[in-house]
Amino acid sequence: MTAPLVEVANLETHFPIRRGLLRRQVGAVRAVDGVSFTIDKGRTLGLVGESGCGKTTVGRSVLRLVEPTGGGVRFAGQDVRATHGAALRALRRRMQVVFQDPYGSLNPRMTVRSILEEGLVIHRLGDAAGRLDRMARALEKTGLARPALDRYPHEFSGGQRQRIAIARALVLEPEFLVLDEPISALDVSIQAQVVNLLVELREQFGLTYLFISHDLSVVEYVSDDVAVMYLGRIVERAAAARLCRQPLHPYTHALFSAVPAIDPARRRRRIVLPGDVPSPARPPAGCRFHPRCPLAEAACMTIDPPATVVADQVVHCHVAARELAATGDVSQASATIARRMAAAVPSTLEATVAAGVIH
Ligand SMILES: Nc1ncnc2c1ncn2[C@@H]1O[C@H](COP(=O)(O)OP(=O)(O)OP(=O)(O)O)[C@@H](O)[C@H]1O
Ligand code: SF4
Ligand SMILES: [Mg+2]
Repeated sequence: MTAPLVEVANLETHFPIRRGLLRRQVGAVRAVDGVSFTIDKGRTLGLVGESGCGKTTVGRSVLRLVEPTGGGVRFAGQDVRATHGAALRALRRRMQVVFQDPYGSLNPRMTVRSILEEGLVIHRLGDAAGRLDRMARALEKTGLARPALDRYPHEFSGGQRQRIAIARALVLEPEFLVLDEPISALDVSIQAQVVNLLVELREQFGLTYLFISHDLSVVEYVSDDVAVMYLGRIVERAAAARLCRQPLHPYTHALFSAVPAIDPARRRRRIVLPGDVPSPARPPAGCRFHPRCPLAEAACMTIDPPATVVADQVVHCHVAARELAATGDVSQASATIARRMAAAVPSTLEATVAAGVIH
């Protein structure tokens, strides 16, 4: 068996909080606080969770665009955190990123040619003619033609700009792409085109993706596996279809209950969680989800739930672990948790009435 292309073990990225004249450190934002996952070559891991849970910081830490403060990252067997200088530059060529905002991520003063050529020059790839050839090929792969090279980003639509951002990554012939909300800033009408392009490119070039998104339907469509993050940690991970069909963690249940399902068999009652996400500077003790969890018990407040593994599904929850032990069956445990959650929290309509919006 070959080793995974990307291996992340107990990754931590804490940002210091500084106060006062001397800028003394008074605390830390624990944006990523013990995250582990692997991605095999050619596979896509989807990363989902509410705003601020640490998804972008995971992506940036894996690429070392921010310095992790703990844990390990290996790429193709190489220790990314222990790599420096020219070796790190060589590694960076193989791991690229596409950001959410094609407006902000492309320099408006640079032509598409200079945008694409920048990376080739940094990585000393090809002579002038060879670079031009690579750039034209990268553009064509994303559905844009060679004349686009002499135009500026503002001359393109949002979808076309995101194609340029993808071409900028592809021109370096990477193996791994972090796609951080790559379609969120685009019109709904062109989101599908860009998603399909990413899927085609993955198949054509055997690419490996970390796909970060708020949109669970897109994540399910694009990903082989999905990891759910809450407050700096992964709380559940499974094959995409399995996670959507039979989630175990109460937070995953709540997330997926908000996805409109066309298939009546998959339609769920919407679960509205109480309260806001706590600050990652002061994560709650025990299970971090306990202040908002409708199923929280005394142990949840003090004991951090360890991983329970059933087939390819990993969940961190005391109640899910107990249900699994009792039934020995994931779909039964998932159904029991869904029933208990529905009984414990008001539906959207009830919550709206309770808040005095409808009478
Ligand atoms: N450079 C930084 N310095 C200090 N805090 C940061 C920094 N970058 C991120 N954070 C904090 O880390 C936490 C995680 O942020 P991150 O951007 O990774 O979340 P996210 O899941 O990508 O959110 P979103 O869905 O809104 O993009 C947040 O509380 C954020 O404010
Ligand atoms: S461990 Fe407890 S608080 Fe955490 S998700 Fe499970 S039931 Fe809820
Ligand atoms: Mg983000």
